[in-house]
Amino acid sequence: MAEIKTKYMGIDLNSPVIAASSGLTSSVDKVKKLEDAGAGAVVLKSLFEEQILYDSTKMTEGLNADIHADAFDFFSGMSSNYFLDEYLGLVEDCKKAVDIPVIASVNCVTDGAWLKYAERFENVGADALELNVFHLPVNKKMSSEDYEKIYYNIAKEIKRKVKIPVAFKVSPHFTSLSRVLENLADLNIDALVLFNRFYRPDIDINKLKITHAPIYSAPEEISLALQWISLLSGEIEIDFAATTGVHDSEGVIKQLLAGAKAVQLCSALYKSGPEVITKINDELSAWMDSKNYSTISEFNGMLCQEESENPEAYERTQYMKAAVGIS
Ligand SMILES: Cc1cc2nc3c(=O)[nH]c(=O)nc-3n(C[C@H](O)[C@H](O)[C@H](O)COP(=O)(O)O)c2cc1C
Repeated sequence: MAEIKTKYMGIDLNSPVIAASSGLTSSVDKVKKLEDAGAGAVVLKSLFEEQILYDSTKMTEGLNADIHADAFDFFSGMSSNYFLDEYLGLVEDCKKAVDIPVIASVNCVTDGAWLKYAERFENVGADALELNVFHLPVNKKMSSEDYEKIYYNIAKEIKRKVKIPVAFKVSPHFTSLSRVLENLADLNIDALVLFNRFYRPDIDINKLKITHAPIYSAPEEISLALQWISLLSGEIEIDFAATTGVHDSEGVIKQLLAGAKAVQLCSALYKSGPEVITKINDELSAWMDSKNYSTISEFNGMLCQEESENPEAYERTQYMKAAVGIS
């Protein structure tokens, strides 16, 4: 029987399938079920920098800092610590309850205040930290470089603060994506998670209201991350993890062939429960047997652009009759 063990950011995983950050990784019970189903690791639900800041602002709203300095300090300290302590408790409890690696996650938008707490994730035993960093580039006064600098500053600062591996979960919305990802690798970030899938607004034309696009991904959405992992996994020396649109063993195998070291699942877990991981692990192993692979390293990255006999296929962006057979 083929061996589906692998290594991601230097951490040993029993399976390349990781439960992505979401409400499904928000309690010890849920994390235990994911371990029982065969998850290689879990990324805990994110602690939002925005949420901490918003809340501390809200609790101190209306308090005049000069007149009520003690109360101001007390409330701003208390509200930030409340969320942080609760989160650190979750990391600690999960570490006690499961044997698989537990990756803490922070959704951050600045290289500011939250970073002074970064060491605490490490102190409570997190095996790694995944930073979900995103700025919607709507500020016309900011150039692409200004936006990129925020990512680099966070990378520099976090690597100064912690020794555990750090992954950046990013969007594809950069003018020069390869360059930005290479720069993050040069700043010693340990893994890149491609690509985050965001909440997307939509419009209800009957109710004339803003609503939202489907919360869960569809399997077709795998292509963007698949293309970029294929393009970059042989080019940039860093571990890649795939996220978005992976719903089954076929999706996992494609991403491993493209060069991903690990594959994260979220929508599939919401739709089918943790058991989908057991099925994927079994099918991955059966597929490897059918191809005579005994370890993942024998085929990992085999179809990335660098190894490909048809490298230009990965860079094709326009439909051409010759490529798709439709005129
Ligand atoms: C309900 C829900 C909650 C999520 N919460 C988080 C989160 O807290 N942090 C994060 O980095 N990603 C979060 N995500 C994004 C997922 O981790 C994942 O990257 C995204 O859903 C794409 O993967 P999928 O196609 O397997 O769903 C969430 C997604 C969903 C659907």
